[in-house]
Amino acid sequence: MKNKTAWWLRITVAFFLVVVLMEVYIDSGDQPAFLVYPTLMFGFMALILLLLIAIAFIVQAIENVLYNTLDEEAKVRYLATKEDKWEWTWGKKMYNKMLGSKSMDEEVEIILDHNYDGIRELDNNLPPWWVYLFYASIVFAVVYLVRFHIYDDYTQDQEYEQEVAAAQLEIEEYKKTAKGLVDANTVELLTDASDINAGKTIFEINCVACHMADGGGGIGPNLTDPNWILGGGIKNVFNTISEGGRDGKGMIAWKQNLKPLEMAQVASYVLSFQGTTPANPKAAEGDIWVDPNAPTPATPAQEATPEMEIDSAAVTMN
Ligand code: HEC
Repeated sequence: MKNKTAWWLRITVAFFLVVVLMEVYIDSGDQPAFLVYPTLMFGFMALILLLLIAIAFIVQAIENVLYNTLDEEAKVRYLATKEDKWEWTWGKKMYNKMLGSKSMDEEVEIILDHNYDGIRELDNNLPPWWVYLFYASIVFAVVYLVRFHIYDDYTQDQEYEQEVAAAQLEIEEYKKTAKGLVDANTVELLTDASDINAGKTIFEINCVACHMADGGGGIGPNLTDPNWILGGGIKNVFNTISEGGRDGKGMIAWKQNLKPLEMAQVASYVLSFQGTTPANPKAAEGDIWVDPNAPTPATPAQEATPEMEIDSAAVTMN
Protein backbone atom coordinates (compact mmCIF):
# COMPACT_ATOMS: atom_id res chain seq x y z
CA MET A 1 0.00 0.00 0.00
CA LYS A 2 1.30 3.43 -0.88
CA ASN A 3 0.98 5.74 2.04
CA LYS A 4 1.48 9.35 1.17
CA THR A 5 0.31 11.14 4.28
CA ALA A 6 2.85 11.89 6.99
CA TRP A 7 2.18 9.94 10.19
CA TRP A 8 2.08 13.06 12.39
CA LEU A 9 -0.49 14.60 10.08
CA ARG A 10 -2.69 11.53 10.30
CA ILE A 11 -2.54 11.65 14.09
CA THR A 12 -3.37 15.35 14.23
CA VAL A 13 -6.33 15.04 11.88
CA ALA A 14 -7.72 11.99 13.71
CA PHE A 15 -7.27 13.75 17.03
CA PHE A 16 -9.15 16.85 15.99
CA LEU A 17 -11.87 14.74 14.45
CA VAL A 18 -12.39 13.10 17.83
CA VAL A 19 -12.44 16.50 19.58
CA VAL A 20 -15.06 17.81 17.18
CA LEU A 21 -17.16 14.65 17.50
CA MET A 22 -17.06 14.89 21.28
CA GLU A 23 -18.14 18.54 21.14
CA VAL A 24 -21.03 17.57 18.91
CA TYR A 25 -22.23 14.55 20.89
CA ILE A 26 -21.64 15.57 24.49
CA ASP A 27 -24.53 17.65 25.74
CA SER A 28 -22.94 20.50 27.64
CA GLY A 29 -25.48 23.30 27.21
CA ASP A 30 -24.23 26.60 25.83
CA GLN A 31 -20.69 26.07 26.99
CA PRO A 32 -18.06 23.97 25.26
CA ALA A 33 -17.82 20.49 26.75
CA PHE A 34 -14.18 21.22 27.60
CA LEU A 35 -15.25 23.79 30.18
CA VAL A 36 -18.05 21.69 31.61
CA TYR A 37 -16.18 18.42 32.07
CA PRO A 38 -12.51 19.47 31.99
CA THR A 39 -10.94 16.46 33.77
CA LEU A 40 -13.02 13.91 31.91
CA MET A 41 -12.35 15.53 28.56
CA PHE A 42 -8.62 16.00 29.05
CA GLY A 43 -8.24 12.48 30.41
CA PHE A 44 -10.12 11.02 27.49
CA MET A 45 -8.24 13.11 24.93
CA ALA A 46 -4.89 12.09 26.43
CA LEU A 47 -5.96 8.45 26.17
CA ILE A 48 -6.99 8.89 22.53
CA LEU A 49 -3.72 10.62 21.74
CA LEU A 50 -1.72 7.80 23.34
CA LEU A 51 -3.72 5.23 21.38
CA LEU A 52 -3.15 7.08 18.10
CA ILE A 53 0.58 7.31 18.72
CA ALA A 54 0.70 3.63 19.68
CA ILE A 55 -1.10 2.69 16.46
CA ALA A 56 1.35 4.78 14.46
CA PHE A 57 4.27 2.94 16.12
CA ILE A 58 2.74 -0.47 15.48
CA VAL A 59 2.16 0.33 11.82
CA GLN A 60 5.75 1.50 11.57
CA ALA A 61 7.00 -1.69 13.17
CA ILE A 62 4.95 -3.91 10.88
CA GLU A 63 6.25 -1.97 7.92
CA ASN A 64 9.83 -2.57 9.08
CA VAL A 65 9.29 -6.29 9.51
CA LEU A 66 7.68 -6.57 6.09
CA TYR A 67 10.48 -4.54 4.54
CA ASN A 68 13.08 -6.94 5.86
CA THR A 69 11.31 -9.89 4.25
CA LEU A 70 11.59 -8.26 0.80
CA ASP A 71 14.32 -9.27 -1.65
CA GLU A 72 16.79 -6.62 -2.83
CA GLU A 73 14.88 -5.74 -5.98
CA ALA A 74 11.61 -5.29 -4.16
CA LYS A 75 13.34 -3.18 -1.51
CA VAL A 76 14.55 -0.77 -4.20
CA ARG A 77 11.07 -0.55 -5.67
CA TYR A 78 9.56 -0.03 -2.26
CA LEU A 79 11.97 2.77 -1.42
CA ALA A 80 11.20 4.44 -4.75
CA THR A 81 7.52 4.68 -3.85
CA LYS A 82 8.51 6.09 -0.48
CA GLU A 83 10.43 8.81 -2.26
CA ASP A 84 7.43 10.76 -3.53
CA LYS A 85 6.85 12.63 -0.39
CA TRP A 86 3.48 13.82 0.70
CA GLU A 87 2.50 17.04 -0.95
CA TRP A 88 -0.68 18.97 -1.13
CA THR A 89 -0.52 19.22 -4.90
CA TRP A 90 -3.72 21.13 -5.45
CA GLY A 91 -2.84 23.76 -2.84
CA LYS A 92 0.67 24.17 -4.20
CA LYS A 93 -0.53 24.57 -7.77
CA MET A 94 -3.11 27.12 -6.69
CA TYR A 95 -0.54 29.05 -4.68
CA ASN A 96 1.85 29.29 -7.61
CA LYS A 97 -0.94 30.29 -9.93
CA MET A 98 -2.02 33.07 -7.58
CA LEU A 99 1.53 34.38 -7.29
CA GLY A 100 1.86 34.37 -11.07
CA SER A 101 5.64 34.69 -10.86
CA LYS A 102 7.98 33.17 -13.41
CA SER A 103 10.57 30.67 -12.32
CA MET A 104 14.21 31.70 -12.46
CA ASP A 105 14.76 29.74 -15.70
CA GLU A 106 12.05 31.70 -17.48
CA GLU A 107 13.26 35.13 -16.39
CA VAL A 108 15.08 35.70 -19.67
CA GLU A 109 11.69 36.01 -21.34
CA ILE A 110 10.61 38.97 -19.28
CA ILE A 111 13.79 40.90 -18.68
CA LEU A 112 13.61 44.45 -20.07
CA ASP A 113 16.43 45.75 -22.23
CA HIS A 114 17.52 48.74 -20.16
CA ASN A 115 20.41 48.34 -17.79
CA TYR A 116 21.34 50.87 -15.12
CA ASP A 117 24.80 50.15 -13.72
CA GLY A 118 24.02 46.46 -13.90
CA ILE A 119 20.58 46.78 -12.38
CA ARG A 120 17.98 45.32 -14.71
CA GLU A 121 14.23 45.14 -14.53
CA LEU A 122 11.86 42.20 -14.87
CA ASP A 123 8.52 42.83 -16.55
CA ASN A 124 6.52 40.61 -14.21
CA ASN A 125 2.76 40.34 -14.49
CA LEU A 126 0.73 41.78 -11.66
CA PRO A 127 0.18 38.90 -9.25
CA PRO A 128 -3.28 37.43 -9.95
CA TRP A 129 -4.27 37.50 -6.24
CA TRP A 130 -3.73 41.24 -6.28
CA VAL A 131 -5.59 41.74 -9.54
CA TYR A 132 -8.60 39.74 -8.29
CA LEU A 133 -8.70 41.77 -5.11
CA PHE A 134 -8.64 44.93 -7.19
CA TYR A 135 -11.59 43.72 -9.32
CA ALA A 136 -13.45 42.74 -6.16
CA SER A 137 -12.95 46.22 -4.72
CA ILE A 138 -14.38 47.74 -7.92
CA VAL A 139 -17.47 45.54 -7.66
CA PHE A 140 -17.78 46.43 -3.99
CA ALA A 141 -17.52 50.14 -4.76
CA VAL A 142 -20.24 49.97 -7.39
CA VAL A 143 -22.60 48.04 -5.12
CA TYR A 144 -21.84 50.42 -2.26
CA LEU A 145 -22.39 53.50 -4.41
CA VAL A 146 -25.74 52.29 -5.69
CA ARG A 147 -26.94 51.03 -2.34
CA PHE A 148 -25.94 53.93 -0.10
CA HIS A 149 -25.60 56.98 -2.34
CA ILE A 150 -28.36 56.37 -4.85
CA TYR A 151 -30.92 54.35 -2.88
CA ASP A 152 -29.92 55.72 0.58
CA ASP A 153 -30.32 52.33 2.22
CA TYR A 154 -29.36 53.46 5.72
CA THR A 155 -27.00 56.06 7.15
CA GLN A 156 -24.16 55.70 9.58
CA ASP A 157 -26.21 57.63 12.11
CA GLN A 158 -29.03 55.10 11.90
CA GLU A 159 -26.57 52.26 12.19
CA TYR A 160 -25.09 53.89 15.27
CA GLU A 161 -28.49 54.44 16.88
CA GLN A 162 -29.44 50.83 16.25
CA GLU A 163 -26.25 49.50 17.73
CA VAL A 164 -26.55 51.72 20.78
CA ALA A 165 -30.17 50.64 21.28
CA ALA A 166 -29.19 46.99 20.97
CA ALA A 167 -26.31 47.49 23.40
CA GLN A 168 -28.66 49.23 25.83
CA LEU A 169 -30.97 46.21 25.74
CA GLU A 170 -28.03 43.93 26.37
CA ILE A 171 -26.94 46.05 29.32
CA GLU A 172 -30.46 45.83 30.78
CA GLU A 173 -30.43 42.05 30.32
CA TYR A 174 -27.01 41.83 31.91
CA LYS A 175 -27.96 43.98 34.85
CA LYS A 176 -30.83 41.65 35.64
CA THR A 177 -28.43 38.75 36.03
CA ALA A 178 -25.66 40.77 37.65
CA LYS A 179 -27.32 42.65 40.48
CA GLY A 180 -24.14 42.28 42.51
CA LEU A 181 -22.26 44.64 40.21
CA VAL A 182 -23.68 47.81 41.75
CA ASP A 183 -21.73 50.67 43.28
CA ALA A 184 -22.78 54.00 44.71
CA ASN A 185 -23.11 55.50 41.22
CA THR A 186 -25.19 52.78 39.60
CA VAL A 187 -27.29 51.54 42.50
CA GLU A 188 -31.06 51.76 42.04
CA LEU A 189 -33.78 51.41 44.63
CA LEU A 190 -34.73 47.71 44.82
CA THR A 191 -38.45 47.09 45.16
CA ASP A 192 -38.77 43.31 44.83
CA ALA A 193 -40.16 41.77 48.04
CA SER A 194 -37.30 39.25 48.03
CA ASP A 195 -34.70 42.05 48.01
CA ILE A 196 -36.48 44.01 50.74
CA ASN A 197 -36.75 40.87 52.88
CA ALA A 198 -33.07 40.10 52.36
CA GLY A 199 -32.34 43.72 53.35
CA LYS A 200 -34.46 43.30 56.47
CA THR A 201 -32.49 40.22 57.52
CA ILE A 202 -29.19 42.02 56.99
CA PHE A 203 -30.48 45.01 58.95
CA GLU A 204 -31.62 42.84 61.84
CA ILE A 205 -28.28 41.10 62.05
CA ASN A 206 -25.97 44.12 61.68
CA CYS A 207 -27.75 47.38 62.27
CA VAL A 208 -30.47 47.16 64.94
CA ALA A 209 -27.99 47.64 67.78
CA CYS A 210 -27.56 51.28 66.83
CA HIS A 211 -30.53 52.10 64.62
CA MET A 212 -33.29 50.00 66.32
CA ALA A 213 -35.41 47.41 64.54
CA ASP A 214 -37.94 50.03 63.46
CA GLY A 215 -35.24 52.51 62.40
CA GLY A 216 -36.10 54.90 65.24
CA GLY A 217 -32.45 55.43 66.12
CA GLY A 218 -30.24 55.12 69.20
CA ILE A 219 -26.51 55.43 68.88
CA GLY A 220 -27.20 55.97 65.20
CA PRO A 221 -29.59 58.55 63.82
CA ASN A 222 -33.28 58.12 63.12
CA LEU A 223 -33.74 56.55 59.67
CA THR A 224 -37.49 57.13 59.37
CA ASP A 225 -37.56 60.90 59.06
CA PRO A 226 -36.83 62.92 55.92
CA ASN A 227 -33.72 64.39 57.58
CA TRP A 228 -30.35 62.96 56.62
CA ILE A 229 -26.91 63.82 57.99
CA LEU A 230 -25.09 62.25 55.07
CA GLY A 231 -27.68 62.63 52.35
CA GLY A 232 -30.81 60.63 51.49
CA GLY A 233 -31.80 58.77 48.38
CA ILE A 234 -30.55 55.33 47.42
CA LYS A 235 -27.17 56.48 46.14
CA ASN A 236 -26.20 58.46 49.25
CA VAL A 237 -27.53 55.82 51.63
CA PHE A 238 -25.66 53.12 49.74
CA ASN A 239 -22.54 55.25 49.89
CA THR A 240 -22.92 55.84 53.65
CA ILE A 241 -23.38 52.13 54.30
CA SER A 242 -20.47 51.23 52.05
CA GLU A 243 -18.00 53.91 53.20
CA GLY A 244 -19.26 54.55 56.73
CA GLY A 245 -20.17 57.80 58.52
CA ARG A 246 -17.97 60.65 59.69
CA ASP A 247 -14.87 59.65 61.63
CA GLY A 248 -15.43 58.76 65.27
CA LYS A 249 -19.23 58.68 65.05
CA GLY A 250 -19.50 54.89 65.16
CA MET A 251 -20.87 54.03 61.72
CA ILE A 252 -18.26 51.79 60.10
CA ALA A 253 -17.69 51.14 56.42
CA TRP A 254 -19.72 48.02 55.73
CA LYS A 255 -18.11 47.22 52.39
CA GLN A 256 -15.69 44.93 54.24
CA ASN A 257 -18.53 42.76 55.53
CA LEU A 258 -21.33 43.12 53.04
CA LYS A 259 -21.38 42.39 49.32
CA PRO A 260 -22.51 45.20 46.97
CA LEU A 261 -25.86 43.49 46.41
CA GLU A 262 -26.37 43.11 50.16
CA MET A 263 -25.62 46.80 50.68
CA ALA A 264 -28.12 47.68 47.94
CA GLN A 265 -30.72 45.46 49.62
CA VAL A 266 -30.18 46.89 53.09
CA ALA A 267 -30.10 50.45 51.69
CA SER A 268 -33.45 49.80 49.98
CA TYR A 269 -34.80 48.39 53.22
CA VAL A 270 -33.55 51.47 55.14
CA LEU A 271 -35.39 53.71 52.68
CA SER A 272 -38.58 51.72 53.21
CA PHE A 273 -38.59 53.21 56.75
CA GLN A 274 -39.35 56.63 55.29
CA GLY A 275 -42.60 58.02 56.64
CA THR A 276 -43.14 55.24 59.24
CA THR A 277 -43.54 56.10 62.91
CA PRO A 278 -41.10 54.28 65.19
CA ALA A 279 -41.80 53.54 68.87
CA ASN A 280 -39.05 55.80 70.24
CA PRO A 281 -38.06 58.21 67.50
CA LYS A 282 -34.75 59.98 67.96
CA ALA A 283 -34.88 63.70 67.24
CA ALA A 284 -34.22 64.58 63.60
CA GLU A 285 -30.58 65.25 62.70
CA GLY A 286 -29.23 66.77 59.51
CA ASP A 287 -31.17 68.47 56.75
CA ILE A 288 -34.32 67.51 54.95
CA TRP A 289 -33.08 65.88 51.79
CA VAL A 290 -34.48 66.83 48.41
CA ASP A 291 -33.63 64.64 45.44
CA PRO A 292 -31.80 66.92 42.95
CA ASN A 293 -32.92 64.69 40.08
CA ALA A 294 -36.59 64.85 41.02
CA PRO A 295 -38.62 66.83 38.49
CA THR A 296 -39.25 70.03 40.46
CA PRO A 297 -40.47 72.99 38.41
CA ALA A 298 -37.59 75.33 39.39
CA THR A 299 -34.57 73.37 38.20
CA PRO A 300 -35.65 72.13 34.73
CA ALA A 301 -36.27 75.69 33.53
CA GLN A 302 -32.62 76.55 34.28
CA GLU A 303 -31.28 73.35 32.81
CA ALA A 304 -33.39 73.61 29.69
CA THR A 305 -31.34 76.42 28.12
CA PRO A 306 -28.11 74.54 27.38
CA GLU A 307 -30.08 71.56 26.12
CA MET A 308 -32.00 73.69 23.66
CA GLU A 309 -28.76 75.14 22.35
CA ILE A 310 -27.45 71.66 21.66
CA ASP A 311 -30.69 70.82 19.88
CA SER A 312 -30.60 73.82 17.62
CA ALA A 313 -26.95 73.12 16.81
CA ALA A 314 -27.87 69.57 15.86
CA VAL A 315 -30.64 70.86 13.62
CA THR A 316 -28.35 73.22 11.73
CA MET A 317 -25.81 70.45 11.24
CA ASN A 318 -28.36 68.14 9.71
C1 HEC B 1 -22.15 50.89 66.03
C2 HEC B 1 -23.41 51.53 65.72
C3 HEC B 1 -23.93 51.46 64.31
C4 HEC B 1 -24.21 50.32 63.58
C5 HEC B 1 -24.00 48.87 63.94
C6 HEC B 1 -24.74 50.80 62.33
N1 HEC B 1 -24.79 52.17 62.29
FE1 HEC B 1 -25.53 53.30 60.81
N2 HEC B 1 -24.98 54.96 61.81
C7 HEC B 1 -24.41 54.99 63.08
C8 HEC B 1 -24.06 56.35 63.41
C9 HEC B 1 -23.40 56.83 64.69
C10 HEC B 1 -24.40 57.14 62.28
C11 HEC B 1 -24.18 58.63 62.08
C12 HEC B 1 -22.91 58.80 61.30
C13 HEC B 1 -22.47 60.23 61.17
O1 HEC B 1 -23.04 61.09 61.84
O2 HEC B 1 -21.53 60.45 60.38
C14 HEC B 1 -24.98 56.23 61.33
C15 HEC B 1 -25.49 56.62 60.10
C16 HEC B 1 -26.15 55.80 59.25
C17 HEC B 1 -26.80 56.24 58.06
C18 HEC B 1 -26.89 57.67 57.57
C19 HEC B 1 -27.99 58.41 58.29
C20 HEC B 1 -28.04 59.87 57.88
O3 HEC B 1 -28.80 60.56 58.53
O4 HEC B 1 -27.36 60.26 56.94
C21 HEC B 1 -27.34 55.15 57.48
C22 HEC B 1 -28.14 55.10 56.17
C23 HEC B 1 -26.99 54.02 58.29
N3 HEC B 1 -26.28 54.46 59.37
C24 HEC B 1 -27.34 52.71 57.97
C25 HEC B 1 -26.82 51.64 58.70
C26 HEC B 1 -26.97 50.28 58.28
C27 HEC B 1 -27.70 49.81 57.01
C28 HEC B 1 -26.33 49.51 59.18
C29 HEC B 1 -26.18 48.01 59.17
C30 HEC B 1 -25.53 47.44 58.01
C31 HEC B 1 -25.80 50.41 60.18
N4 HEC B 1 -26.09 51.68 59.84
C32 HEC B 1 -25.12 49.97 61.29
C33 HEC B 1 -24.19 53.91 63.89
C34 HEC B 1 -24.30 52.59 63.50
